[in-house]
Amino acid sequence: MNIRAKTALITGASRGIGRAIALEFAQQGVKKLLLVARSQQRLAEVAAEVEAWGVEAVILPLDLTQPVAVNVAIAQAWRDHGPFHLLVNCAGVAYQTPFLNSNLLNVQAELETNLMGMYTITSLVARRMVAQQSGTIINVSSLMGKVAAPTMATYSATKFAILGFTQALRSELAAHGVRVVAFLPSLTDTDMVKNFQLFRWMKPISTAKVAKALVIGLRQESPEILVDWQSRLALWCGRIAPWLLELIVRWAAPSPQPTAPLRQPISINLFKHSATASEQPYQQL
Ligand SMILES: NC(=O)c1ccc[n+]([C@@H]2O[C@H](COP(=O)([O-])OP(=O)(O)OC[C@H]3O[C@@H](n4cnc5c(N)ncnc54)[C@H](OP(=O)(O)O)[C@@H]3O)[C@@H](O)[C@H]2O)c1
Repeated sequence: MNIRAKTALITGASRGIGRAIALEFAQQGVKKLLLVARSQQRLAEVAAEVEAWGVEAVILPLDLTQPVAVNVAIAQAWRDHGPFHLLVNCAGVAYQTPFLNSNLLNVQAELETNLMGMYTITSLVARRMVAQQSGTIINVSSLMGKVAAPTMATYSATKFAILGFTQALRSELAAHGVRVVAFLPSLTDTDMVKNFQLFRWMKPISTAKVAKALVIGLRQESPEILVDWQSRLALWCGRIAPWLLELIVRWAAPSPQPTAPLRQPISINLFKHSATASEQPYQQL
């Protein structure tokens, strides 16, 4: 698909991959961008960058985990700025931690943002796209939605789930003229991974490269868009020799951290919520 002269709503547009997609769409001649994230100030900065390319920008400061507010905002945005031709579901959070040190609040934040947040906005936009009999929904999963990795169990679970959600919607909405696409970036240089313990051989790629890969994938009408040859190699290896890929992933994973002795009460981590993904993503005892 060609995104020229289209209207797109991008979640997670205040920074990282979402911001880069907004800038790339602007350079590719999109007509209007609706930018969603919690930080109004950062959204305003991205809007100014986008407007410099002659694109109309509308900011929607929203917390996607608040369905009532999202419902009201999307109804107003569609009325004032619709129809949207593209919805890019990019907002997400990730906490890296050995599973035995994980805490419930971080897991809930991943589920609520990555899955329930995506569900809420998708249901609101999809039913309006279906009424128009046209539209494209892009769900940002991850390479970790295909290759699960140690220390990222619950994040990987959300990204696997996004692929299932995408596949089901693709079949369901095709009859209504709505395309549903999965985007699977590999490790990318953003706030999300700033304090991560990186896997061996993994070097973060730039957000600009990731955003360009999305535009190329959309042009090629791919149902699942990958970013680089390493991702293709990993998926090919997973199909031909899954046991080998699992061995490689184990070997490349960050060194195991000491885990809580079993005699300690399991609840010790339940209410120790890391404020943001980038502040304390990797807990150590
Ligand atoms: N970085 C990677 O290596 C990588 C690899 C594969 C896939 N991904 C996926 O790419 C997407 C973007 O990640 P990123 O690396 O760009 O992360 P990032 O730099 O941390 O950005 C996350 C974005 O999501 C927004 N967001 C978070 N919680 C939100 C909420 N409750 N409501 C509304 N917006 C919210 C943030 O804005 P505010 O804080 O202003 O709300 C921000 O714009 C995520 O889905 C991630 O899983 C990332």
